Amino acid sequence: MDAMTLLHERSSMGKLMGPPPGPEQLDAIYRAALRAPDHKELRPWRFIEFSGEGLARLGELFAEAEFREDPEVSDAALDAVRKKPHRAPMIIAVVAKVTPDIPKVPKIEQVVSAGCAGHAILLAAHALGLGAMWRSGKYAFDPTVRKGLGLDEDDELIAFIYLGQLGGRHRPVPEHRLSDFVERWT
Ligand SMILES: Cc1cc2nc3c(=O)[nH]c(=O)nc-3n(C[C@H](O)[C@H](O)[C@H](O)COP(=O)(O)O)c2cc1C
Repeated sequence: MDAMTLLHERSSMGKLMGPPPGPEQLDAIYRAALRAPDHKELRPWRFIEFSGEGLARLGELFAEAEFREDPEVSDAALDAVRKKPHRAPMIIAVVAKVTPDIPKVPKIEQVVSAGCAGHAILLAAHALGLGAMWRSGKYAFDPTVRKGLGLDEDDELIAFIYLGQLGGRHRPVPEHRLSDFVERWT
């Protein structure tokens, strides 16, 4: 797939199956992520990869967060929360590892850089014929989850990227009218 086709046609895949990406595929995916633009080379990125028992541990963390938020939550609802990470054989959490008080590189730039790394993961996965979907959801912002994943105060958990083999067909890429988004000063 040539680069422009990839950029124009990448799309998300929510239906994902095993097996998880293999070591060579993951190597290619992370190398793509590490080419994210990065002001002052701060490398404000951290990736936490979950597969196998790791997905169950993540589900347990989500359930703990849910219980802390609502101690009256039913067992059935907690079970449903525990299962969420099992929608894919692998998840990569993308963390913006923010260094505060860097001259000329405010937090937003570091978070944007991590966002670019997340996009690169989606693009690389698509190029490799894998399926991927960026999810956040309330657990990405939950203090229990943040603590469980070892985030520092200034860090942001910007993505849970669900990854696996395609479990369905890609939706057609939507058509956009460029003039709705692009202004030209000439
Ligand atoms: C920061 C961010 C968070 C997102 N969180 C979710 C989410 O929690 N659940 C969800 O269904 N889609 C979420 N999405 C959107 C999907 O990843 C996806 O982009 C959307 O369904 C459109 O599909 P497409 O990527 O094929 O255009 C999120 C996207 C971004 C950029």
